[in-house]
Amino acid sequence: MSDQLIIFDTTLRDGEQSPGASMTKDEKLRIARQLERLRVDVIEAGFAASSNGDFEAVKAIASHIKDSTVCSLARANDRDIGRAAEALQGAARSRIHTFIATSELHMEKKLRMTRDQVYEQAKLAVRFARNLCGDIEFSPEDGYRSDPDFLCRVLEAVIAEGATTINVPDTVGYAVPELYGNFIKMLRERVPNSDKAIWSVHCHNDLGMAVANSLAGVKIGGARQVECTINGLGERAGNTSLEEVVMAVKTRRDYFGLNVGIDTSQIVPASRMVSQTTGFVVQPNKAVVGANAFAHASGIHQDGVLKARDTYEIMRAEDVGWSANKIVLGKLSGRNAFKQRLQELGIELESEGEINAAFARFKDLADRKAEIFDEDILALVSDESVTK
Ligand code: KIV
Ligand code: ZN
Repeated sequence: MSDQLIIFDTTLRDGEQSPGASMTKDEKLRIARQLERLRVDVIEAGFAASSNGDFEAVKAIASHIKDSTVCSLARANDRDIGRAAEALQGAARSRIHTFIATSELHMEKKLRMTRDQVYEQAKLAVRFARNLCGDIEFSPEDGYRSDPDFLCRVLEAVIAEGATTINVPDTVGYAVPELYGNFIKMLRERVPNSDKAIWSVHCHNDLGMAVANSLAGVKIGGARQVECTINGLGERAGNTSLEEVVMAVKTRRDYFGLNVGIDTSQIVPASRMVSQTTGFVVQPNKAVVGANAFAHASGIHQDGVLKARDTYEIMRAEDVGWSANKIVLGKLSGRNAFKQRLQELGIELESEGEINAAFARFKDLADRKAEIFDEDILALVSDESVTK
């Protein structure tokens, strides 16, 4: 089995489903560029059939992003899949992600379909998608609460139709780590052609266990793709946090034995960019990206860290993109230091003209204020970087 863990980012699709987090096309494109710098393997850019806006956003991302696979979600029907394929046309590498619910509750109450109808529709959808794209992901929505016998039947059929990734969502965040890990393991053992697909985990955080469940799906279940979002953004209590999964796998490589292709120094800039764009504040004690994640306040800890960092630090702040050299910006600071801080804060201004204008405002402020904090810079550039 591969020792590479695929990082599938769904900030722009499942993350955006969070009430109040919707983003414009330009905002999505800016975040997609940051995700590419972060070197995520797959960017789920949106749900092309859901609106013209989402279609245009997926299309723009598909034509600009070269290093990550660009994916669109589609319900298991020809229209959605056709729209996804159309939006993805310009992509260097594309994926269609199609889904249909398989739990009794969802089939009966939401879809009003029988098991056989869902089974047929899943098969036909993957067959249709496979004719349009070589990289097809299939998700049985509410998979974790589905009857295992029926689920195995559906998954075997969609793999036979050409699905290359099988994603098992815990749509409502009901799983606990050991059970979810064993569920993935059971599916991989029981589906006869399971080795023809890469298995993926997709967890929601309703009980605060999305990251733990995803990691159990990897460790116990043998999944090799994790679906996640920056800052754990997502509906209700959110999705699995990308930064936590990546740093867990890297920091505990002794336990997981896996590699991730992520450039971790881009994690904090990505977190800031998503937070500024959506207005969703990152809690200070959030692992990896919270303002206090690397702050040592108690005397004993400060003393220990000054003597040897490993005493209280299991990761390096600078490895995840916190600026190592705490250059204090003030009235003597130059344009380069200002530009560098913008980059560390995940702020991307589009033209030199915008940078010059922001720098001029910075200089004005620095004349009135001895030290310029990150919050001041965020306020200075918010017009250009966020509200566009
Ligand atoms: O949570 C979920 O079930 C989903 C699927 C559409 C993959 O987001
Ligand atoms: Zn989801």
